[in-house]
Amino acid sequence: MYPNSIIQKFTSVFFAQPTLVLRAPGRINLIGEHTDYNDGYVLPASIDKAIYFAIAPRPDRICHLVAYDLDSEIKVSLDNFTQSDIAWSNYLMGVVDELQKAGYSFQGFNVVFGGDIPLGAGVSSSAAVETGLAFALNQIYHLGLSTMQMVKMAKAAENNFVGVNCGIMDQFASMFGKKDAVIRLDCRDLSYEYFPIELPNHAVILCNSGVKHSLGDSEYNTRRQECEEALRIFAQNFDNITSWRDISFEMLATIKNQLNHTVYRRAKYVIGEIERVIVACDALNQHDLATFGQKMYETHLGLQHDYEVSCPELDFLVEQTLTDSAVIGARMMGGGFGGCTVNIVEKAQQEVFLQRMKATYLEKYQKELVCYVVALTNGTEIIG
Ligand code: GLA
Repeated sequence: MYPNSIIQKFTSVFFAQPTLVLRAPGRINLIGEHTDYNDGYVLPASIDKAIYFAIAPRPDRICHLVAYDLDSEIKVSLDNFTQSDIAWSNYLMGVVDELQKAGYSFQGFNVVFGGDIPLGAGVSSSAAVETGLAFALNQIYHLGLSTMQMVKMAKAAENNFVGVNCGIMDQFASMFGKKDAVIRLDCRDLSYEYFPIELPNHAVILCNSGVKHSLGDSEYNTRRQECEEALRIFAQNFDNITSWRDISFEMLATIKNQLNHTVYRRAKYVIGEIERVIVACDALNQHDLATFGQKMYETHLGLQHDYEVSCPELDFLVEQTLTDSAVIGARMMGGGFGGCTVNIVEKAQQEVFLQRMKATYLEKYQKELVCYVVALTNGTEIIG
């Protein structure tokens, strides 16, 4: 269906061929959750669920945007726009806004976009829309942005125009992904390393709770504020604190009574999660999947009890895997308050796993559990 349906839509709306067709994928994250905006590490990968774009420049100042899946369109002038009630358009115009603020000049464009990334499922459909458009405009208007600059523009669009104070992981993963690899990104200095992930006998499976994380945006911003507050208190008590990377559990114990209970637990989670990614990557290097999986479970417990961004459905899905010896590790993934769990499962037991999870979820919540067996793919790329 994709990208052909997108191209066909483009030709039927604009009576012309697109000059560029590209795919911008969604992402998973194996470990390192809520660490990107805390100067920690993350371990994401881009996946075979993507947003596809068909685009062409226009000689005038109009951006004609068509959201294929939503059957919705809007025309916006480059010279006069602000946030729209048509929410989806803000992800695109936010990118345009960032590019213009940074002094890049270009004319209007016609674009059709759409794809198979489930919405509100914690696999970053919004980041894919942002990185896809940044990549497309850079290409059709020869703006000369580096890949990392495009990532930063896409993230800034989400922060400034959409109003979610997200970190850089999603846009980074959607842009920098590589087939069959996960990427360890150091969010403090943006250095990164690809880890080929050799899982001949295992599958990465997402279980979508079906709970849309709409509550998440305001709670997400609250978590950020709580972390900033904790960091300020650390800096008041210790010398040379520039980020969470300078903080240890010993230091946390020393200032425990200066933090309220909530902020204390947030700090405990962040310190633990930064350490866990390092241990998990070492384990991956040594093909020690058991340790890797154990770290995923520890992350879930931290997100559930200390960072408090899980929900009963996600906890249930993770709990169901605890007694299943075919599951190496499982945890909630992404911002939280709904969306998917990520599971590493023995391939030989994949079908049994899927059937069992679906059946127990249906019994407990009278809701169908949609699962995705994902492949790791290249990041944003031209396909036509
Ligand atoms: C969302 C944000 C990311 C990251 C994750 C949690 O996906 O967009 O920047 O903070 O939540 O790890």
